[in-house]
Amino acid sequence: MKKTALIAALMIASSLTGVAAAQTAASAPAAATAQSAQARADALVKQMTLDEKLQLIHGYFPPLAKPVPPIAMIPSAGHIPGIPRLGIPTLRESDASLGVANQVEQRKGDVATALPASIATAATFNPKLAYEGGAMIGAEARAKTFNILLAGGVNLTRDPWNGRNFEYLGEDPLLAGTMVGEHIKGVQSNHIVSTIKHFALNSQETGRNVLDARIDKAALRESDLLAFQLGIEIGQPASVMCAYNKVNGDYACENDWLLNTVLKQDWAYKGWVMSDWGAVHSTEKAAIKGLDQDSGQELDDQMFFDTKFADAVKAGRIPMSRLDDMVRRIVFGVIDSGLMDQAVPDSAQPIDYAAHALVAQKAAEEGIVLLKNDGNLLPLAKTAKTIVLIGAHADVGVLSGGGSSQVRSVGGAPVEIPLTKGAAASFARITWHASSPLKAIQALAPNAKVTYIDGSDPKAAAAAAQGADMAIVFAWAWRTEAQDPESMALPDNQDALIDAVAGANRKTLVVVEAGGPVLMPWVSRVPAILQAWYPGQRGGEAIANILFGDVDPSGRLPITFPVGVDQAPRPEPMGLAELHAAEARRDAGDKTVYGMSGGVASFPVDYPEGADVGYRWYAAKNAKPLFPFGYGLTYTSFHYANLKVADGTKLSVSFDVTNSGQRAGADVPQLYVEAKSAAGTKAYRLAGFEKVWLKPGETRQVSLTVDPRVIARFDEAKSGWALDAGNYKLRIGHFAGDAALTGSARLDAVALKP
Ligand code: GLC
Repeated sequence: MKKTALIAALMIASSLTGVAAAQTAASAPAAATAQSAQARADALVKQMTLDEKLQLIHGYFPPLAKPVPPIAMIPSAGHIPGIPRLGIPTLRESDASLGVANQVEQRKGDVATALPASIATAATFNPKLAYEGGAMIGAEARAKTFNILLAGGVNLTRDPWNGRNFEYLGEDPLLAGTMVGEHIKGVQSNHIVSTIKHFALNSQETGRNVLDARIDKAALRESDLLAFQLGIEIGQPASVMCAYNKVNGDYACENDWLLNTVLKQDWAYKGWVMSDWGAVHSTEKAAIKGLDQDSGQELDDQMFFDTKFADAVKAGRIPMSRLDDMVRRIVFGVIDSGLMDQAVPDSAQPIDYAAHALVAQKAAEEGIVLLKNDGNLLPLAKTAKTIVLIGAHADVGVLSGGGSSQVRSVGGAPVEIPLTKGAAASFARITWHASSPLKAIQALAPNAKVTYIDGSDPKAAAAAAQGADMAIVFAWAWRTEAQDPESMALPDNQDALIDAVAGANRKTLVVVEAGGPVLMPWVSRVPAILQAWYPGQRGGEAIANILFGDVDPSGRLPITFPVGVDQAPRPEPMGLAELHAAEARRDAGDKTVYGMSGGVASFPVDYPEGADVGYRWYAAKNAKPLFPFGYGLTYTSFHYANLKVADGTKLSVSFDVTNSGQRAGADVPQLYVEAKSAAGTKAYRLAGFEKVWLKPGETRQVSLTVDPRVIARFDEAKSGWALDAGNYKLRIGHFAGDAALTGSARLDAVALKP
């Protein structure tokens, strides 16, 4: 499907269909809800005709679908007609993890509350906020008559340059799995369906539709799959979205080991596997290898789960028992999430956007990471007389990440720059949310002279900064789905801008609006740095509150910031040469360059680091990163003492945290335990964390109990977790590599199911 046609289709769709047609789903009789979801699903499948079963296993992509007769569909991600006579609702799917998405404003004027980037929520190290954010966006999805939110992105951020890092929850499986599980639980607390995605190892965007991600299976279990496993246990997502890429030779959406062995057998997953959009490549193979539903079918090279599927069932190439299992899983998910018994309203409901904005603001405030604060430049006194803001459209808004997760936030987009090339061009624009740092700072410092200059001319910016009580450079780096950046350096000559301003004013703060790490060649020349990520609906207010100390910075890095790309496992995306060659052929008029693959043939991406992702990689390489995982400063200081270890069959620790500074604040003490991976490498792994708020001088005892799988190795031969008996060194630290307290634990051997 030519992507350019997509945008035209999106525009047409937005004029064709209005509000969703009546959603008819009789509310189930009270008695029926008492049965188990499994029993209810079984009973319903038994009542279905073949056609009814077949209609549930593939979904329309509204911008392109041309059903006959026409169906009223919301211009959005997906639509699967329901079965009214059985009370099975029509499934209306929207993206995604940051709010109810509205890419390229396909629904004119439809706004929603924009959460900060998922990586910012991860940086809060506060699972409660992940839940609250999920609950809020799930409520907006339901109010807008969607009943599936394609949320729960949790791929580990293996590469610092990955275009979608902003949509994910960092490099550590315990942190990512915990945060995504709470996020999903929040979404589904609205009795709608959430997904968890993209299953699995979708770790770069370049060539995502064709690349073959290759990794040792046990290493995958100990890393990306552990994040999914924890997320599924905590969040109970009704659906798992399989990824575009291949894993060890087979496409993820027809991968027997991933879908049938790991997910459905080992983890006993009862929900359904939906494909990513355009990620299906077969009929029989996909069905037999574990795919339950083809999403966005018009984006596939063929309609594999439409008449082709019906023919395969009638010919016996796909057993009816497999079709029944597919449908049962879908119906189970609809029942188990509560959607079956609490149908989504037929028409849009009111939304308290003011209250929802505060949810987004809190996540942004707790996710902002103070990376540097020499001379306690921050917090800035409200008596400051002159404050100069520079760059990144800080007068009108804050940056957001691009792609299917794009929310059109309340207040619209003050700045929106279309792309002229690349795989994302048809569905992404460089978009700012209408939350002005300038206005927010002016509101908190009404007596100060607060000005803005756009930063396009470093000399002019330096002159404006001269003599100000503070010069704040807002640095920006846009990231998007479907494309990886060709560099991790700040674009548009921003490094020179920062150097010029810092050279003109010693009191310079850099606020970085980015979806992950960026290169900071100026780091030694700038006294203060705030990582604000993509701060969402009220990002300007969040930045201002941290700036003046109305809120204490408490974010910690969920992803390592390398000094340079040569420290990372892969300095750049794999497959760039293949991509550029295909683009050149297309530009030369080659008509074979089409479809989701963009004319790129499959290429391998090897992950030799295995389970040693992120901080474990840098430690193994003795590479000192620019800023480590778990790192973040506050306006006070925290001290740890009195470590106690309880060991034997289960490891738990307790220790005291004291606010040894003069201001209230929040800390995130982290427990790291040294353990051996299946590959035989020893590394300290995050095994526990807790966020604590303390007044000056206050002490709190923190107790952490370790999930043995987090420090075990996966024994692929025995297909289970093995925690070997022995002595385990452990640390309590402020970040990965920090050993504020040290100890050890003697643990018994434990074998656990996969
Ligand atoms: C996209 C994304 C996925 C999204 C889906 C529907 O290509 O990979 O995260 O939910 O399609 O838009």
